[in-house]
Amino acid sequence: MKKKLNKEAVLDMVRGFQPSCVVIAAAELDVFTILHARPMTAARLALRVKGDLRAVTVLLDALAALGLLDKSAGAGPVYRVPQTVADVLAGTGSQCMLGMVRHLGNCLRSWSQLAGVALSGKPANRRPSVLGSGEDLASFIRAMHEISEPMAMPLVTGLGPLKFKHLLDLGGASGTWTVPLLRLNPEACATILDRPEVIPMARRLMRKAGLADRVRLVAGDFMSGALPEGVDLAWVSAIVHQNSRAQNRRLFAKVFAALEPGGRILIRDIVMDTTRTRPAGGALFAVNMLVNTPGGGTFTFAELREDLAAAGFTRVRLLRRGEWMDSVVCAAKALGTRRHMTCAGSRTPSPSAVVGIPSRPSAPGPSSATPSATADSPTTPAPPSTTRRRRRKSTVRR
Ligand SMILES: C[S@@+](CC[C@H](N)C(=O)[O-])C[C@H]1O[C@@H](n2cnc3c(N)ncnc32)[C@H](O)[C@@H]1O
Repeated sequence: MKKKLNKEAVLDMVRGFQPSCVVIAAAELDVFTILHARPMTAARLALRVKGDLRAVTVLLDALAALGLLDKSAGAGPVYRVPQTVADVLAGTGSQCMLGMVRHLGNCLRSWSQLAGVALSGKPANRRPSVLGSGEDLASFIRAMHEISEPMAMPLVTGLGPLKFKHLLDLGGASGTWTVPLLRLNPEACATILDRPEVIPMARRLMRKAGLADRVRLVAGDFMSGALPEGVDLAWVSAIVHQNSRAQNRRLFAKVFAALEPGGRILIRDIVMDTTRTRPAGGALFAVNMLVNTPGGGTFTFAELREDLAAAGFTRVRLLRRGEWMDSVVCAAKALGTRRHMTCAGSRTPSPSAVVGIPSRPSAPGPSSATPSATADSPTTPAPPSTTRRRRRKSTVRR
């Protein structure tokens, strides 16, 4: 039920940016990690972060006022981080959300331009944080992992038995969702496709999870060129919202072309009801896409069904309806469907547009950049010969 909003409640809502900015600034300066390792005075912290003493003192007092720091009494007060706060905001915390807090800081810089975006219809001008754009990307990928990791195994298990031989984790980031999908299918292997800058993060997680030999890492751009083929499950998680419907239709057509007949696509995302106001978090997330992308948003099931059907998919079902980014839509590529389809509205990809498709190793070896045992493993469907002919340069990273 909706709350009644009086004057104070409205103003409280508007002032919500103030504590947000305080926590985000502290996260960007890594104040919680530093003070958790060693409680200290404002003067010492200002030196440590190479900051201005007056400004750092005001920030620390605001954090103490919010209950995020304890401040000792007397002259030269020392600030320390309560354990429950350190668990969430220190880099070493057991439920660390530092990546997400920093990522939300990057969102905030775009959201603050919302009125201008509403007038122009164009995304906000991105400004990097004090950490710089490279670290901002790392925060984004880390944020995705922090949010998804606790829910990934329960969500995937809740979908029922998911049998597949070769998974394509499209825009898989560090591979958070590949982990439970492969753990539940011990015979299967996976390809994670993401931007080149993200691949090292995926490599780290796959090694940590002990899955490096079952996963090939492909650097590429899934919006241009064809996708790695010979897969029977495409996991498209938190991707469709960054696109317009026209872009999704093109992407679904590529996924369709990449899938073996009988293969499936699973889309994890927010699915809106027909009013587009529920789930409420989804209506706000559409604002996030408005300020950050040229055409992204949140979609209804009917829209996703229509766009999947336009790409050739059948049996489109809402497998799970959640209140956040935990709805799952499933669709199938019917058996007997032609293997290669031309992407809707575009030409068949030219050889140079084929991204990230690994070539067969001529002489496998540890230092080889060509694919792995994984690409040759019995569980990996053999790539169609037309694809083999098209292959040129491998972008496989391990
Ligand atoms: C919102 S994150 C989702 C990550 C992951 N699938 C998950 O559910 O946690 C979007 C991911 O897609 C990747 N991505 C976005 N556009 C891409 C493109 N055109 N080609 C390849 N990767 C892309 C990003 O680098 C990022 O890792």
